[in-house]
Amino acid sequence: MLIGPVAALPGPRYVGLARRIRDLVTAGALPAGSRLPAERELAGELDVSRVTVASAYRVLREQGFATTRHGSGTLIELPGVPSSWGAPSSDPGLLDLAHAAPEAAPQLLPAYQQALAELPARLAGHGYAPTGLVELRAAVADRFTARGLPTGPEQVVITAGVGDATAVVLDTLLQPGDRVLVEHPTYPGVLGMVAAAEGRCVPVPVDPAEPDALVRAAGLAARQSSPRLAFLMPDFSNPTGAQLSAAGRRRLAATLWQQGVLTVADEVAADLHLDGDAEPPYAAGLPDAATVTIGGLSKAVWGGLRIGWLRTDAALADQLGAALGRRQLSVGMLDQLAATVLVGELDQVLELRRAQLRERRDVLRAEIAARLPDWSAPCPAGGLSLWCRLPGDLSSAAVVASAAPLGLLLAEGRAFGTGHAFDDHLRLPFTLPPAELRTAVGILETVCGTLRSDPFRPTPSRPLSVV
Ligand SMILES: Cc1ncc(COP(=O)(O)O)c(C=O)c1O
Repeated sequence: MLIGPVAALPGPRYVGLARRIRDLVTAGALPAGSRLPAERELAGELDVSRVTVASAYRVLREQGFATTRHGSGTLIELPGVPSSWGAPSSDPGLLDLAHAAPEAAPQLLPAYQQALAELPARLAGHGYAPTGLVELRAAVADRFTARGLPTGPEQVVITAGVGDATAVVLDTLLQPGDRVLVEHPTYPGVLGMVAAAEGRCVPVPVDPAEPDALVRAAGLAARQSSPRLAFLMPDFSNPTGAQLSAAGRRRLAATLWQQGVLTVADEVAADLHLDGDAEPPYAAGLPDAATVTIGGLSKAVWGGLRIGWLRTDAALADQLGAALGRRQLSVGMLDQLAATVLVGELDQVLELRRAQLRERRDVLRAEIAARLPDWSAPCPAGGLSLWCRLPGDLSSAAVVASAAPLGLLLAEGRAFGTGHAFDDHLRLPFTLPPAELRTAVGILETVCGTLRSDPFRPTPSRPLSVV
């Protein structure tokens, strides 16, 4: 019997029994859809009252871990574990660290007000701009040029966010069965997109303590598996915060290009360097067609402003722009007008954002060091999150499931990997204000204490895949 003797569980018996079953679910030992024993049967097996079992099942139903169907008994369910790419919580009472996304920059509202003032002059036209407003493409191109990557507006396509830019590249260039080299761990969204395009991921390990180790590993993987594309986050990868050195990225870019692999370089966090200066763009120094660089305003400005872009050589930009145009005709005019204002003042926006994230990163690390001293939370030089290694056999899935009822939403480690990797890691974004980060760590402290006090907590040897 998986559940073990109930008398040995701490607290009221039904609570202990519910927690035990819930942990078996989050560890993957009880898959969704499996039927729990009838109340009377389990009561007999565990030598407890039927009321204890009925109460435990009620708690599981309330927590979303079980459902009762007439004629089928009580079935295991998986509550919607909040993931890093799911819909944001609308409950202001919840602490949402499932999303590595800060609140809107103060410059957002004035930019929309300016955009609204400019809108009447546009209303006589049809309002479509399939590859993006030329002013916005020019503003984005100028920023690339200023960073050392000479770019014209014809090389830039405006998209509805960074994820949209990735999707258009994968949809256009990937054939079913094609391989895509990905960092491991990586941004969960890309795993889903590769699967949707019927591609196959080739995971290459990322070690934030030695980011340039990726260069050799990716070169080797490219030789062995001939991927069509590589999806890389050279600057402050999500979730690890790893950054390739200037020399490392130069070597990797050249190697992949020589192997015939087109790199999609996701720069969503490239401007969020918190400790030092920016490294040169990944695409610098190679033919423009070697790389599709994607970026956007989601992290610097706001996730709700759906503006991103891609940059490559003009011919490929044309092809990708046409594919995008077939799909959605155009990104919204008002958003593009506001984005044009914001890209023009991005340096000021970023200055504030970096200062805010730097403070929050340091608060979160200090809280973890004080209250969760056996967690390892290395300091990333930029980006939006800590990639924490959990102590002992603490399961990230169990932590996430236990924190949700206490009002803390998290994305579990497995979301960032292929197969069943990373249940020993938890991504903690430092995207909430300091007081809320302190509360979040307090909840994690409680959760860890509770999970530890349960001597029957299962070792999560066979976690579920959530991607
Ligand atoms: C690496 C990475 N790429 C893309 C995205 C999605 O960005 P957007 O909201 O602009 O689609 C995210 C969001 O977290 C991300 O971390």
